[in-house]
Amino acid sequence: MGRNPEQKPDARLSRNRARLAYKVRYALGHPDRLVPYARRAGRNAVLRLRHGRDHVAYYRAVMASDTARSPEAAVGGAPSHDRWLAIGQLQYDYLVGHGLTPQDRLLEIGCGNLRAGWRFIDHLEPGHYYGIDISPDILIEAKKTLVRYRLQHKVPYLTPVDDLKLDFLPDGWFTVVHAHSVFSHSPLRIIDECLAHVGRVLAPGGFFDFTYDRTEGAEHQVLGEDFYYRTDTLVRLARRHGLEARFMDDWERLPHGQSRLRVTHGAGDRVG
Ligand SMILES: C[S@@+](CC[C@H](N)C(=O)[O-])C[C@H]1O[C@@H](n2cnc3c(N)ncnc32)[C@H](O)[C@@H]1O
Repeated sequence: MGRNPEQKPDARLSRNRARLAYKVRYALGHPDRLVPYARRAGRNAVLRLRHGRDHVAYYRAVMASDTARSPEAAVGGAPSHDRWLAIGQLQYDYLVGHGLTPQDRLLEIGCGNLRAGWRFIDHLEPGHYYGIDISPDILIEAKKTLVRYRLQHKVPYLTPVDDLKLDFLPDGWFTVVHAHSVFSHSPLRIIDECLAHVGRVLAPGGFFDFTYDRTEGAEHQVLGEDFYYRTDTLVRLARRHGLEARFMDDWERLPHGQSRLRVTHGAGDRVG
């Protein structure tokens, strides 16, 4: 069901949004959201039938449909330009606060329409930003954002992908890897694939930050779109691939509903 992204996670940690009792309670409390929810559930059911167990193809279709309606809403839920700007600024301020310099080489996984990306591109030296996404539709919107902010001279890379094997990228290249609000829309096998390969492209001393929807109860998903994980699950997954994951407490204090983990090679992070 719809969620308020401004809400602090603490209030939501034990909820299981997949349970019927929760849905009924939520519907009674928010009757105005019932019709949009039913419409979304119907659309997603059709897309799931079409794409079966291929989550990337399914989610690409969700993004195509959402982007056609509103590219800014497609990357963040609420259709407000102010919110689009604010969440981009939040991501940017956080990484700069953790030492992101113009010389860093940044890989943004699931870059969307450059909500944060245009600020990173502006900050970084030419050619130091690499954005990837499964959705060609949102990447076309990313190019429009680039033009709107006159950032052509920064020659960023914007590339569609089918998976997160990252096999077309060089070893040890990226000093910072960033995925905001991507694993909150990903089944565990996709997160696993990313963690299996990200270590190869991560420079020594670099870090990979990602946000996720945290639960302290049962892990669950809603409409094949929103996935809730226990922190332990993700930390253990990273460890299986020889990486260390650290919970970012300072991110918890910011006005964003998701939590954040920082993954490194294990020798400690360079900054922050
Ligand atoms: C909620 S949007 C967030 C976009 C951007 N990170 C931001 O904060 O504005 C999630 C984005 O991740 C992309 N995405 C979802 N799953 C992905 C995957 N497995 N690999 C790459 N991109 C993915 C979606 O297409 C979408 O653009």
